[in-house]
Amino acid sequence: MSTRIRLALALAPFVLFAAGCGSGEKAQPQPAADPAAAPAAAVSDAPDPAVMAAGQEGYAICQTCHQAEGQGVPGTYPPLAGSEYATGPADRMIAIVLHGMTGPITVNGQTYNNVMAPWGALADDQLAATITYVRNSFGNKASAVTAADVAAVRQATASRTTAWTVAELEAATLR
Ligand code: HEC
Repeated sequence: MSTRIRLALALAPFVLFAAGCGSGEKAQPQPAADPAAAPAAAVSDAPDPAVMAAGQEGYAICQTCHQAEGQGVPGTYPPLAGSEYATGPADRMIAIVLHGMTGPITVNGQTYNNVMAPWGALADDQLAATITYVRNSFGNKASAVTAADVAAVRQATASRTTAWTVAELEAATLR
């Protein structure tokens, strides 16, 4: 064995060790970058600020009854803050806003028996923004809604001409 080969063999573990360290160093910034990426992911989960701004404007309509903080009016207008209808399945809330509601409904443990007019005359994107705003305001945290979501529920419920009762809403196919 030549001196050169012997030297190479003797150095090999150090070379591999160094290479291992090198790749270790390369891998390290990734876990280190994760804590920085986590808030970014959380932000991308949050609704688009432009959509929230449009939704806040759209909410002016709803605010007349459901009030500035979504707290509603006891005995008359149910709250949107903490409401399972506002934070539950997006399609169900879309359907309520498109066609309105009537009859007894229990929200946050209180029963209301009133009528909400339909808002289906408004455009898909305006409704989507307003619904997204409600689902992510007043302490609510729920999935954003797109204009395509509104369009899909609008199409699936197109034959509907009256406000929903809770029972009808539960039985309906919304997509
Ligand atoms: C003129 C008053 C009025 C306006 C304006 C109004 N609502 Fe309602 N809303 C009601 C009433 C009353 C009910 C309950 C109906 C019932 O008793 O069956 C209701 C029920 C609801 C519910 C289901 C119950 C709950 O509290 O979660 C949702 C969701 C809702 N409204 C969202 C909206 C959104 C979003 C807007 C704006 C696009 C809006 N409403 C505009 C009066 C109104």
